[in-house]
Amino acid sequence: MPQFFVSTAKGLSDVLVEEMLQLGIKHPTKTPAGAFFEGNWEDVYRLNLCSRVASRILKPLIEFTAYKDDELYQQIMDHQDFSRYLSPETTFMIDASVKESALHDQRFLAMKVKDAIVDQMRETFGERPSIAKANPDVKFYIKGYKNRFSLAVDTSGDSLFMRGYRMEAGEAPLKENLAAALIMMSEWKRDIPIVDLTCGSGTILIEAAMMALNMSPGVHRRSFGFQKLKSYNEETWSRVLDSAIGEEKEDIPFKFYGFDFDRKIIQKAKANAKRAGVDHIIDFRSENIAMVAPPCERGIVVINPPYGARLGDEDSLRDVYRDLGFTLKSRFSGWDVFILSGNKDLMGDLKLKASRKHFVYNGSLECRFLKYSIK
Ligand SMILES: C[S@@+](CC[C@H](N)C(=O)[O-])C[C@H]1O[C@@H](n2cnc3c(N)ncnc32)[C@H](O)[C@@H]1O
Repeated sequence: MPQFFVSTAKGLSDVLVEEMLQLGIKHPTKTPAGAFFEGNWEDVYRLNLCSRVASRILKPLIEFTAYKDDELYQQIMDHQDFSRYLSPETTFMIDASVKESALHDQRFLAMKVKDAIVDQMRETFGERPSIAKANPDVKFYIKGYKNRFSLAVDTSGDSLFMRGYRMEAGEAPLKENLAAALIMMSEWKRDIPIVDLTCGSGTILIEAAMMALNMSPGVHRRSFGFQKLKSYNEETWSRVLDSAIGEEKEDIPFKFYGFDFDRKIIQKAKANAKRAGVDHIIDFRSENIAMVAPPCERGIVVINPPYGARLGDEDSLRDVYRDLGFTLKSRFSGWDVFILSGNKDLMGDLKLKASRKHFVYNGSLECRFLKYSIK
């Protein structure tokens, strides 16, 4: 069976592997930012549609050592049949990255890979496919480290965190796959409300609502990379899509609640939830963190408060964290609260003691995802 690689953000591999097992993938092998698995193309279609944590799914093609450009060219020409993935009419591009190698120029590396693909396709068909830097049909990835290279073809297209519902956001929105992973790390069982006290564009709650309705994260996307590959099988894709849609629920017996003091961002969150088809189960309200009271009897809080990456932000944010700490201690007793923060000092202002801690990356920033059980 062919091998595939599912990438995700650093820190999310454990959650990804857990999710892959739930989606029927056998024996995924964890790496620091993803997991390999052996499977068929139906698995690849299903993971692209249903994985909430994946960033992208790649099909590794070849691995080889090369010190010179003609070695690299020949290895690719000799050991990979590109007519399995491309037709002369397909447009493609190469994404190159390289470290600590004799062939160290990324642009040159991309050009050499392109030459090998184009020359091989011309030999086979008498015509060559064209390059498209924007919106190519097919994307290849070449990665080099210490003169060892790996070439892979992408099956996702746009990164999988781009679900298609978030057209509007405020400052520092969470990537959708990170928001989904946080919910999974909270061990929420999809059976009680989630409250977000600084909901911004609504990402955490929209992801949770989609989970509660069994709605696949990819249902609103217009396309996936695998649909442009020559090997694409429309019948298999229809079967995967129909089966996922067949699992969806229309309603659930509880709601999600999002608060933010910025009225404009609340309007954006509502619009995003409507596009995602989950607005009937999320209640968004404009409210300051200092004033919020529990909107329901029981639930959990999952929250991504601002953490001021910009200079000068920190002082004004101290008040927000003090207010958050006060609100939680005085009004949310008995609740479990999960907070993502990239600023350890500010977390000290909560005056609460965490009972569990995960390290995750929000972009390049190392963050902590902490659990507090409010007495
Ligand atoms: C990091 S953003 C949240 C982003 C959100 N998770 C998303 O994906 O869009 C923090 C949010 O906290 C809100 N906020 C800041 N201070 C607040 C306060 N005192 N009360 C309520 N909301 C506040 C901001 O308006 C901002 O939308």
